[in-house]
Amino acid sequence: MRILLLGSGGREHALAWKIAQSSRVGKLYIAPGNAGTATVGENVAIKSDDFDGIAAFVLNNRVDMVVVGPEDPLVKGINDYFKNDARLAGIPVIGPTKAAAQLEGSKDFAKQFMMRHGIPTAAYRTFTSDTLEDGLRFLETLKAPYVLKADGLCAGKGVLILPTLEEAKKELREMLGGMFGGASSRVVIEEFMSGIECSVFVLTDGRNYKILPEAKDYKRAGEHDTGLNTGGMGSVSPVPFADREWMDKVESRIIRPTVQGLAEEGLEYKGFIFFGLINVDGNPKVIEYNVRMGDPETETVMLRLKSDLVDLLCGVAEGNLDTRTIEFDTRSAVCVMLVSGGYPGHYEKGFVITGAENVRDSIVFHAGTAYDAAGNVVTAGGRVIAVSSYGKDKSEALAKSFRSAGMIDFNGKHFRSDIGADL
Ligand code: AMP
Ligand code: GLY
Repeated sequence: MRILLLGSGGREHALAWKIAQSSRVGKLYIAPGNAGTATVGENVAIKSDDFDGIAAFVLNNRVDMVVVGPEDPLVKGINDYFKNDARLAGIPVIGPTKAAAQLEGSKDFAKQFMMRHGIPTAAYRTFTSDTLEDGLRFLETLKAPYVLKADGLCAGKGVLILPTLEEAKKELREMLGGMFGGASSRVVIEEFMSGIECSVFVLTDGRNYKILPEAKDYKRAGEHDTGLNTGGMGSVSPVPFADREWMDKVESRIIRPTVQGLAEEGLEYKGFIFFGLINVDGNPKVIEYNVRMGDPETETVMLRLKSDLVDLLCGVAEGNLDTRTIEFDTRSAVCVMLVSGGYPGHYEKGFVITGAENVRDSIVFHAGTAYDAAGNVVTAGGRVIAVSSYGKDKSEALAKSFRSAGMIDFNGKHFRSDIGADL
């Protein structure tokens, strides 16, 4: 098979690494990819939301399947774009249609979907600039902290958690006043839930589903979950509290009603569903849906997936996922993210990365990396390298990742040394 993977982050390097291990793959392209994906496939200089460019490449290179890494092309409708072109309609795109991608593309859509299907989530109401006064009054009925969410995609910056009523009111005014442009023309205000978060991933063909290994990610920049939110500073799989009993609740209360609900509503979904969950007194509740894999969760989940990913993706495309088997590696996997100095605030790019070639005990996934004109691998983003390791348990895996993290160097390198410490 000839596969084209879209995206350029650590998630995509981990997916490419796993796809390349499949005996069914003859050629793997990554668009646009990074310096790491170039070592397991061939990078193609096309942006992942350049649909015309992608279509031309797919036709010229006889690509058999397109796997979508990030949410952006899905929310913009890449699946529908392929379906609506007779030359492309027979080529499966792994990822939902535009209508189904609203599960991530619109917080209000996701909340209404959960209400219709009785899926546990925080109580909420949605407001627009016309109903600002109602929104301010609604805030007065809630207890601190206050959770405000821009309805649309905001590159992970659209959720605000405010400690006081005054700040919540001020931010609601600003969001509805255009703080995130059109993405915050609607704002969801919801009940604050307290608990530990867990990311659960499912592959579905729209009818059948397979549950992948779960993971916990570490979003804050600073040790012990302090500081600004980031794209993710590390991840751990498995998650101890996600035991059989808890996962049974997740499956019966959340996964099954979601997949059935999509089918009942005629929302075509063939791809990954990412359930962002929180454990509230032993009961899982949904914080958010994403229509893709998580980053940096993929950098541990792919280590724990023993089965052939491409075989599973073929099951998704052909609608017979129930005939495929999924097996997990029972070892632990962890990922420690090396980030640029200053991230998630201002940081500089273009620093040469050294030492990665000497790492033996870990798998080095590239995130924001590129080749410079001289052929050096240099930093090209905030999150630079994901250092993933196996271990007989979490501690052994973490020791390996931290040792490997010490061997890799670039100007301003920074990482959290407490990944996994809370579990
Ligand atoms: P989201 O983009 O919806 O995942 O939100 C970003 C982060 O905000 C989540 O990962 C949670 O840590 C936090 N968060 C979102 N909604 C809530 C909520 N209702 N209660 C508590 N924390 C929340
Ligand atoms: N790790 C969270 C995300 O990918 O959105």
